[in-house]
Amino acid sequence: MKQAPISAKLPVMMHGADYNPDQWLNYPEVLKEDIRLMKLAGCNVMAVGIFSWASLEPEEGRFTFEWLDRLLDSFADNGIYAWLATPTGARPNWMSEKYPEVLRVGPNRVRNLHGMRHNHCYNSPIFREKTKIINSKLAQRYAKHPAVIGWHINNEYSGECHCDYCQGAFQEWIRRKYESLDALNEAWWTTFWAHTYSSWSQIESPAPHGEFAVHGHNLDWRRFVSDQHIDFLQFEIEAVRPFNPSLPVTTNMHMIESIDYRKMAKRLDVVSWDAYPTWHDRKDDSELGAYFGFYHDLFRSLLRKPFVLMESTPSMTNWQGVSKLKQPGMHKLSSLQAVAHGSDSIQYFQWRKSRGSSEKFHGAVVDHAGHEHTRVFRDVASLGGTLAELTELVGTTRPAETAILFDWDNRWAIKDAQGPRNSGLHYEETVHAHYKAFWEQGVPADIIGSEDGFEGYKLIVAPMLYLCSEETGRKLQQFVEDGGTLVTTYWSGVVNETDLCHLGGFPGPLRKTLGIWAEEIEALHDHEANSITMLEGNALGLQGSFKAVELCELIHSEGAEALAVYGESFFAGRPALTVNKLGAGRAYHMAARHQDDFLNAFYVGIVRDCGIKRAVDAVLPAGVTAQVRTDGLKDYIFLMNFSGILQEITLDDCSYTDAESGLPIEQQLKLDVHGVRVVCRTRE
Ligand code: GLA
Ligand code: ZN
Repeated sequence: MKQAPISAKLPVMMHGADYNPDQWLNYPEVLKEDIRLMKLAGCNVMAVGIFSWASLEPEEGRFTFEWLDRLLDSFADNGIYAWLATPTGARPNWMSEKYPEVLRVGPNRVRNLHGMRHNHCYNSPIFREKTKIINSKLAQRYAKHPAVIGWHINNEYSGECHCDYCQGAFQEWIRRKYESLDALNEAWWTTFWAHTYSSWSQIESPAPHGEFAVHGHNLDWRRFVSDQHIDFLQFEIEAVRPFNPSLPVTTNMHMIESIDYRKMAKRLDVVSWDAYPTWHDRKDDSELGAYFGFYHDLFRSLLRKPFVLMESTPSMTNWQGVSKLKQPGMHKLSSLQAVAHGSDSIQYFQWRKSRGSSEKFHGAVVDHAGHEHTRVFRDVASLGGTLAELTELVGTTRPAETAILFDWDNRWAIKDAQGPRNSGLHYEETVHAHYKAFWEQGVPADIIGSEDGFEGYKLIVAPMLYLCSEETGRKLQQFVEDGGTLVTTYWSGVVNETDLCHLGGFPGPLRKTLGIWAEEIEALHDHEANSITMLEGNALGLQGSFKAVELCELIHSEGAEALAVYGESFFAGRPALTVNKLGAGRAYHMAARHQDDFLNAFYVGIVRDCGIKRAVDAVLPAGVTAQVRTDGLKDYIFLMNFSGILQEITLDDCSYTDAESGLPIEQQLKLDVHGVRVVCRTRE
């Protein structure tokens, strides 16, 4: 039940950082010292060359690989490995000067000046040609280097370009998708405001001073932009892959909304991502802990195997309004949190603080002081020791019986729509709130998309599934008929895949599965609320009343049983929470938005009724979570305290040992402020 390690060359927990030695080429003593410090910090891997294009090709066609030769050789001599980056996240000045077409054009159709990073057009033939040259030269030289364990393609792909090349590519993309103008006009509902297209050449990207009111158009533009990143990623991969097909390929992802990472991940061997929680903005970090738990689970779920935490800060960032230091314990807690959710590596941005420019105050393992006698260095080195004790975990999986449905195009479509609540529909917040109820109970969850397989899950939670195709509706129906439990909410089954409303009654393709008709939806102001009251003897055994906020649907039962009814206004007495039995399964629907107290109580009942396994069978105080990885025989449980206060847990009577020390664990287990313990038990 274990996955193969990410790299056969380094089959242990990886630990390291982005390393930018090209910033220090005039400081030879620094480079030498870095190797000593890396070993001292228990680091075994560095991501190198990320923005090194100007250091590798200082003039067009003149290449200077000597510094990288020396670096990788010295890594190999010292047992340090490298994710070798393609340097295409930023371009040299000479390229923009000689070939202005490589620069991006904004939505306002104005071309950018040279500067920053990611400021290039993926459809510029020159940019592609130059990318191919530098990538293949790197690969030819280093793909078989003993220190290189994989490709770090580009860096956090993002942004969009509206130049003429990109307009042409968009027209082509649309033409391939719809084939006829009639089909396009129907799919985008262009008769509205006389938007009908009479030729493909009229299609342009959305613009603030042009077209932005056709939702199908906006949605397809977002899909196109996402596809452009994926296409360019593929182009970069093809330039390096042939030189050593066994080297794994990754690109570091981030919480960027504009790329459908689920599609992008299909081109990768391993998913990696960059996590920057802004800890300590409040005393209780549990909100943020659950939020990052969600994202770790999302990135793990993309390929359903261990991922790489490619970047995190060992201390603080430099881009927050207020940059807090990591308090004692937090470095270990937040790093092991990533491991708990499936990361087989902990890496930082960056190894050594830059001397100048905009990131000179961003946290790094080695500070400007330049030595190891710092709090941050000691925390990093101590984590290096911990990770070395956890080698056994490499390749273990997460046994999730619950899945949360979270689609990129649903995110895009929800936010584009006008009405019912332009002051905030809070889609992501809603998904996170549902996820948090599982996190609090220590229930592992996968984060999946409509196109993933639904088999193997006992429960699927699909909050605000506004964009729901007929196909997704059918799949969810099948899932329920086959015995699964589905939970949906208000504002579901409203539009199809081209953002046209389902006709014949909402929730469209989910109507039969849910056994309801959602006739109207009302938005509430922030200062307003409705309420719901649980009905006597309801199947979940819940009691009392709960607040309903922001969005309340007026629904009719078409076979579903009401578990709760609205309490206020003319909604009073109408169903607010329903369950429908279909085939061997059940489908619940929440007609209104609720707060954590309801979600926690509701999902405790659901988890119990579905027989879903929790990481530990113990009462977990609020803000303390338990997450599990397993090899099928042995479970590794991470008990993590994000509550900001001392906590105690009484474990169940399985016999647990400490995964770091191997010693037996006391049943009354204390967790310090920001405390984490990794314990293991044999599976029954
Ligand atoms: C991103 C980038 C890094 C660095 C960090 C700073 O994640 O990939 O190059 O700029 O942000 O937090
Ligand atoms: Zn362009």
